[in-house]
Amino acid sequence: MYGQINDRSGVTEDVVLKALSTVIEPELHRDLVSLNMIRNLKIEGNDVAFTIMLTTPACPLRGKMESDSRAALAAIPGLGQVTIQWDSNVPSDRRIGEQIGQNFRNTIAVSSGKGGVGKTTVAVNLAISLAMEGARVGLLDADILGPNVPMMMGKGEMPPPSNRKMVPAENYGVRFISMAFLVKPDQPLIWRGPMLHSAIRQLLTDVNWGELDYLVVDLPPGTGDAQLTLAQVLPLSGAIVVTQPMQVAASDAVRGLKTFEKLEVPIIGVIENMSGDFFGTGAGEQLARDYDTDYLGSIPLSADVRKGGDSGQPIVVVHPDSEAALAIRRIARDVAARVSVLTLQVQSENFIPITMIG
Ligand SMILES: Nc1ncnc2c1ncn2[C@@H]1O[C@H](COP(=O)(O)OP(=O)(O)OP(=O)(O)O)[C@@H](O)[C@H]1O
Ligand SMILES: [Mg+2]
Repeated sequence: MYGQINDRSGVTEDVVLKALSTVIEPELHRDLVSLNMIRNLKIEGNDVAFTIMLTTPACPLRGKMESDSRAALAAIPGLGQVTIQWDSNVPSDRRIGEQIGQNFRNTIAVSSGKGGVGKTTVAVNLAISLAMEGARVGLLDADILGPNVPMMMGKGEMPPPSNRKMVPAENYGVRFISMAFLVKPDQPLIWRGPMLHSAIRQLLTDVNWGELDYLVVDLPPGTGDAQLTLAQVLPLSGAIVVTQPMQVAASDAVRGLKTFEKLEVPIIGVIENMSGDFFGTGAGEQLARDYDTDYLGSIPLSADVRKGGDSGQPIVVVHPDSEAALAIRRIARDVAARVSVLTLQVQSENFIPITMIG
């Protein structure tokens, strides 16, 4: 009998938390306990159960955190069964709500210097990939003059307005809004800067977006008005720059990088799209190196990616296990993790100490 009591006293809350305080969150470089990521700790006899609260449901490092936690706990004498559950609470960039009155926790701009490199394709598949991981995702088509998000998202209309606000269309778990919903296809759009500005502002503010973990913004080509307007209207958690594998495309992307730098928007990283035998590979990685930013990975040139875009059935939906879809889904998890880090940095600059979970 006494032996049993001794065994039981070996597995206590203190001992478990002490063990878990040696496990480092790989992105945030601090331990799970001081980050307040261990929740619902329950000890029954020698069995331990707890929830790890992640900073994004799309966390790419669950596997590592689980195996590190199990390894740390294994050192406790007499340990029984360990049950780990997962939950997430995405950190919120409070500047967004303050500035536009919407409940977006993070905003991610998808940009490039040059047209036709696959920004919209990346934005659409990235948004859907994040939603597939369980995040609440919106997609804003900020390409006011050439809006093609609805075509790629497979839905050309939005529902009727409610309470005098527009209601986003929804497909594949993503809410989206586009100028294409508001103008007839044959109506020419010849707009000047101030009108572009107010159009983007309206698509952000006059819409019942609801609560979002991530708003992905698809930008038009170039580094002009739209980028400037967007950065003025909406605090951006970070920007992704899409480039093609050829050096010429990368040199356009440099302008994209510099624009965001000037606007003080953090660069999440560079994606090389349409990589492979035909166009080659490498310019994206080189660009990231030259500009001291991160390389997020490449998406191969693939007929299925193009077909998916043309038919409104994006590759991550119809061929989720294809090479291209797996590449985008991995990049999406990486982007989510990086955005959490960026937003926590913003929080810690404005609110001390870091309180990462609401
Ligand atoms: N990895 C890929 N493999 C094959 N085709 C692709 C790939 N990525 C994009 N495409 C195709 O390339 C074309 C241009 O892509 P997309 O419209 O996404 O580019 P964009 O940068 O948004 O263009 P714009 O500057 O006009 O907004 C589309 O037909 C799209 O389906
Ligand atoms: Mg586009």
